[in-house]
Amino acid sequence: MSKATDFRYNTGATRVPWAAVGENYNVSDLMEIIKFLMQGEGPEYDAAIAAVKTQVEKLDTLSTPPGKLSLGSKVEEAEEASNTYLGTDSSTFVTNATAGFEIAYKYANLKPGDEVIVPAITFIATMAYPLSIGAKLVFADVDPVTINMDPADVARKITPKTKMIVPVHIGGYPVDMDPIMELARKHNILVLEDAAHAFGAMYKGKKVGTIGDFASFSFHEVKNITAFGEGGIATTNIPGYGNYMKRARFFGTDFSNPIRNWLYDVTALPGKEEPFVAVNYSTTEIQGLGLSLQIERNEDIIAERKRAAAYLNSRLASNPAILCQDLGNENIKPTFHLYLLQIDPEKAGGDIQMLKKKLAEKGVTNIPHFGPLYRFRVTEQMGYNADEIAKTCPVCEEVFYKRFTHLPLYGLTQEQLDYMADAILESVAEMQAGK
Ligand SMILES: Cc1ncc(COP(=O)(O)O)c(C=O)c1O
Repeated sequence: MSKATDFRYNTGATRVPWAAVGENYNVSDLMEIIKFLMQGEGPEYDAAIAAVKTQVEKLDTLSTPPGKLSLGSKVEEAEEASNTYLGTDSSTFVTNATAGFEIAYKYANLKPGDEVIVPAITFIATMAYPLSIGAKLVFADVDPVTINMDPADVARKITPKTKMIVPVHIGGYPVDMDPIMELARKHNILVLEDAAHAFGAMYKGKKVGTIGDFASFSFHEVKNITAFGEGGIATTNIPGYGNYMKRARFFGTDFSNPIRNWLYDVTALPGKEEPFVAVNYSTTEIQGLGLSLQIERNEDIIAERKRAAAYLNSRLASNPAILCQDLGNENIKPTFHLYLLQIDPEKAGGDIQMLKKKLAEKGVTNIPHFGPLYRFRVTEQMGYNADEIAKTCPVCEEVFYKRFTHLPLYGLTQEQLDYMADAILESVAEMQAGK
């Protein structure tokens, strides 16, 4: 496997070196970084900061700054941590999950008119690249319980032009991958898992993101774990392709085989049918460090989120109009990125819009994180007809407008969890009473 680093400027112990890092961070910068990561105010805070500054000044006289800030050993360590955790050897740390998707789409040699099946409910990132190059997006309807892509509808929507299927593990709840993989193998279609929410989720004993041909996880700030706000791990199951993933992150550079009188070569990378040109999705050392640190506690974070979800379920199950978050089983282990709250509008005496309004009035944050993609204006601007597509996604229309919203699960006190459960129970009871 090639190294993460490019080391263009690693000139070693020469008389006149050429440092990789132009301008490093000084004590004053570091103090601003500490104040940013640990914000506060007041005399006690100011005194603590002054004490830290004295120590940082001392440290400055005892330490050397890092010699690399991008694509170095910390990025490699994050990739190794991800490999160990996922049981793969292809983890490539890129700027964000969307960058990982682009590598997979480029590998597929996606062209205008080629079809890509995505779920009707997901985030724009899933479909941004195909939309941007004029590939045709085909929206698969969703499963009414999980709101994930429904494999039966995928089967109905496959055509000879289908090049990719992109299952999205929404909220970290694994998509039913077996039928998707079966369809893909039968029709010679590539599968890209949008595992943005699902780092650590399991499907039938396998980590999600190691089942399809490609996958990408997100470490954007809102995800279960982050890499200082942005980051993605891209993986592949294409035999021997892990090495190319690293090169796909940085223009296709090849340091192992430089051209004459130069440091490296640049090549196009192999795609499914023909080579493609790579661009730049490099990540920084500080992001690598941030990701490694949080991967270490990923299992604990999932467990804490699961405890919160189970607690909400135990409170909400008393009203049969409320459909609780599925906690999984032997075969399905979600990451509990979001709590999926659903209601049965007939039993609840009103739909989710009514409940959302009541919850907002009671100060309970609830956001149906993802809506029908085909409703965005950008889709219309690219020539799609939302109302026509809606007719092919009736479950999506029903669940989005009438049945589901998402609730927060992490960083809440017991009091906040109870307040949220009480507010939901009271609001649904009000609706049932016609109030
Ligand atoms: C379902 C889904 N896919 C993809 C992404 C994109 O991730 P990133 O911001 O790391 O590119 C997100 C981010 O929120 C997401 O929710």
